[in-house]
Amino acid sequence: MSRALYDDLGRSYTTHRRPDPRIAARIRTALGDVRTVVNVGAGTGAYEPDDVELVAVEPSQTMIAQRPPGAAPVVRAGAEALPFADASFDAAMAIISDHHWADRAAGLRELRRVARSRVVLVNADPATAASFWFTAVYLPEFLDLAPAARRIPGAWERELRDAFGDGLRVETIPIPHDCSDGFYPAYWRRPEAYLDPGVRNNISIFHLLDPQAVDRAVADLGRDLADGSWVARHADLLELDELDVGMRLAVATQ
Ligand SMILES: C[S@@+](CC[C@H](N)C(=O)[O-])C[C@H]1O[C@@H](n2cnc3c(N)ncnc32)[C@H](O)[C@@H]1O
Repeated sequence: MSRALYDDLGRSYTTHRRPDPRIAARIRTALGDVRTVVNVGAGTGAYEPDDVELVAVEPSQTMIAQRPPGAAPVVRAGAEALPFADASFDAAMAIISDHHWADRAAGLRELRRVARSRVVLVNADPATAASFWFTAVYLPEFLDLAPAARRIPGAWERELRDAFGDGLRVETIPIPHDCSDGFYPAYWRRPEAYLDPGVRNNISIFHLLDPQAVDRAVADLGRDLADGSWVARHADLLELDELDVGMRLAVATQ
């Protein structure tokens, strides 16, 4: 396989992207009473339940190398062409991965093809992106990463419904203020985290965007934290324990 994005950026993934137990519980509940599961875009093994027979699928060797000893077996492949027969597993899961797929529609079709009874997918709805303060105030360039058509309210869910049919349910996953999985909006109440290169190194958008835009955003945030203007503008956030930052859990049954 060609070199994958996470071969370059995910070198300390397990330090900054530890699965959050509250999100893990939502995923396990959504999988329900299944025996066999394929985890597509599995990375280092986050959110893989240990009470099922699981096969992981992951294209990045850097991520595969960080899977802990005893983790589920992993196949090096991409979502767009899963090397399994139809209906090979009870369920398929894909956690914060499908925005990376070269052909997302093909990958979603593949999830449905290999899963007998359900698909569980977690990711951010691009229609919510502009409401996150880091994007809105400091890094509006982030919006350009998703095509405009995908940022229309309802578009994300429609794409899933096109792939999975009418048995689709979408729920909000509110993100706790101390979320241990450091994805892009996870630090909504810990703004200093975005100043840390170690944090940014494990969030793909900071690698995909123009480095000058990222440097500007980080410098502006650093200034606003130092002079108190971030706290003045976002004091309401400091009162909250969890926040809807656009993260959604989609469960498709068939
Ligand atoms: C943000 S990480 C999430 C990993 C893991 N699911 C988790 O929750 O920690 C995104 C993962 O998707 C993988 N990925 C990228 N392109 C992919 C593709 N075409 N098919 C499957 N996985 C892909 C990346 O290599 C990376 O491991």
